[in-house]
Amino acid sequence: MEKTDIQQEIKMTDSLMNRINELISHYPEGKQKSALLPILHEVQDAHNNWLSIELQNKVAEILGIQHIEVYEVVTFYTMYNTRPVGKFMFEFCQTSPCCLNNSENIMEYTCEKLGVPVGEPTKDGQFEVRSVQCLGACGYAPMMQLGDFYQEHLTKEKIDQLIEDCKDGKITLHDI
Ligand code: FES
Repeated sequence: MEKTDIQQEIKMTDSLMNRINELISHYPEGKQKSALLPILHEVQDAHNNWLSIELQNKVAEILGIQHIEVYEVVTFYTMYNTRPVGKFMFEFCQTSPCCLNNSENIMEYTCEKLGVPVGEPTKDGQFEVRSVQCLGACGYAPMMQLGDFYQEHLTKEKIDQLIEDCKDGKITLHDI
């Protein structure tokens, strides 16, 4: 698991706890662990898009499961972050159909433009580039995920525009 010394303030607000309890209620008694993935999404969204060890432990305690059961899930899926990440996360698909349509060059171009390598946030914490595997939108290659939305048929010009739109506050990250 990626380690960070950065402290994270844990804010289990009433509205977050209500949402967690509602998710748990979707499953039969004793099967509350089944709500783990959606709960982690909610908790991460409420904590600046990352989950510290302390926060993961808190989720385990709420669900009455072992800490390791949460760590296993958080470290398996790329959608969970174990350190602070850039606010605008450009997640480029790097599987064959996207690669055959220039996705490697587009990702490299984005890194150069933002002045960061893959997997490192910009100094102002606004942007980050991540390499991910197939996102199931191969027919729209090359593509990436930005927040809850897909950006498709990417070109360098589209990347320029997306970066500007992020800076100008014109990008919606969450589908709510
Ligand atoms: S290969 Fe890129 S979305 Fe499937």
